Amino acid sequence: MGLLIKGGELVTAESRSRGDIFIENETITGIGNNFHAPPGTEVIDATGKLVFPGFIDPHVHIHLPFMATFAKDTHATASKAALIGGTTTFIEMCCPSRNEDALEGYHTWKQKAEGNSACDYAFHMAVTRYDARTEAQLREIVRDGTASFKVFLAYKNFFGVTDEELFHMLKLAAELGVITTAHCENAELVAQLQQLLLAAGKTGPEWHEPSRPESVEAEGTGRFATFLEQTGAAGYVVHLSCAPALRAAVEAKLRGVKLYVESVLPHFLLDKSYAERAGVEGMKHIMSPPLRDKRNLPILWGALQAGLIDTVGTDHCPFDTEQKLLGRNNFTQIPNGIPGIEDRVNLMYTYGVKRGSLDIHRFVDALSTRPARLFGLFPRKGTIAVGADADLVVYDTDYRGTISAATQHINNDYNGFEGFAIEGRPSHVIVRGKVQVRDGAFVGQPGQGQMIRRDPGYAPQSDAHQAAHQGLIHAS
Ligand code: URP
Ligand code: ZN
Ligand code: ZN
Repeated sequence: MGLLIKGGELVTAESRSRGDIFIENETITGIGNNFHAPPGTEVIDATGKLVFPGFIDPHVHIHLPFMATFAKDTHATASKAALIGGTTTFIEMCCPSRNEDALEGYHTWKQKAEGNSACDYAFHMAVTRYDARTEAQLREIVRDGTASFKVFLAYKNFFGVTDEELFHMLKLAAELGVITTAHCENAELVAQLQQLLLAAGKTGPEWHEPSRPESVEAEGTGRFATFLEQTGAAGYVVHLSCAPALRAAVEAKLRGVKLYVESVLPHFLLDKSYAERAGVEGMKHIMSPPLRDKRNLPILWGALQAGLIDTVGTDHCPFDTEQKLLGRNNFTQIPNGIPGIEDRVNLMYTYGVKRGSLDIHRFVDALSTRPARLFGLFPRKGTIAVGADADLVVYDTDYRGTISAATQHINNDYNGFEGFAIEGRPSHVIVRGKVQVRDGAFVGQPGQGQMIRRDPGYAPQSDAHQAAHQGLIHAS
């Protein structure tokens, strides 16, 4: 039986036009006007609504052992929330700690997701230690279809790698043609500043930001870019939060470094005053890099519109109130992270597109097409085209609502965006031809999501090519 989405305004990263989309099985097989559907076809009337390609969240944490606890969501809860919010594919950070075996970790993460996710998914493989055994395992993981790495320059002794490890893993990434995503903060400076603040009796959540100031993130971003430049690898800065780090990234882009930039939902809408609230209210807004001074917000919006910030993810990472209180006497023990997977599309649409800060095509590009292109999912995902997966969001721009923990679907007892108004939401969400959300309600089944295997998309670099790039020898 086919599915016809009729009469909507089809909006992609490049175009906007009224039309019908015909779907057979998992794939878009026709786009046009006044389609005559064969008998038995299910019809969704999209008149007066926008139709977007399924949105892709390039940065989420679902299974995450971190800071003496675990992030709250399961693949069932997070994927259901993702779909209700219009996200049809997410890329999860697979994060074994430094003391764990990379391949064992990879299998654990895959097992957690398999048969439990209602939307499609892929992984970024975190490299939290680099040695000969890990190198061999990473080659195997890339062959399995996980064609992107993750590296932490922060979180000393847990996820963080040394500069020596960073260099060698980026050489491998360049050889394999794999892009490396990076959390860019200087781990040593954070550790030292934390100790100074605690020694001065500064223990509350308001001291989290001063322990990881903007310059510490700018240093990490610049250093990552320099390592990319010297290894020829392609890189992607995750959750960039402030103007100095943006400047470091843009300078590297101008030098020709293959560097892409992600910012995440909280950094566009919240500032550090949220983390300065008394007690647990402040703790709820602790994440790294931290929420920043509000002067950064218009700069990030401008950079997003200009395409200097490539993508918008969430860094979805829910910890509940009880978990946040682990840091009641010491801000360094507050689990870092806030949720967002359910709210990214509606909030970016409302405060970006509707408020005039973000062109609607750039919105689709940053939240769907560019993540798909950067991470090897395009053209299967990230666009509306014949032959693409039928991942579609029918969007009701007349909807009015308010973000609230009372009505959310993620597994958490608060929402960092509580009380934010939204002006639009998905009415229908389709994943590979299956209607998973109808009239805003989840109607799908957990476990229908598939792991999407990806090929490396960045030209492998030979040593000779690399030396020529660095000016050490002349290419003939
Ligand atoms: O505070 C954050 N961002 N928590 C999740 C882990 C990470 O650094 O991405
Ligand atoms: Zn991070
Ligand atoms: Zn993260």
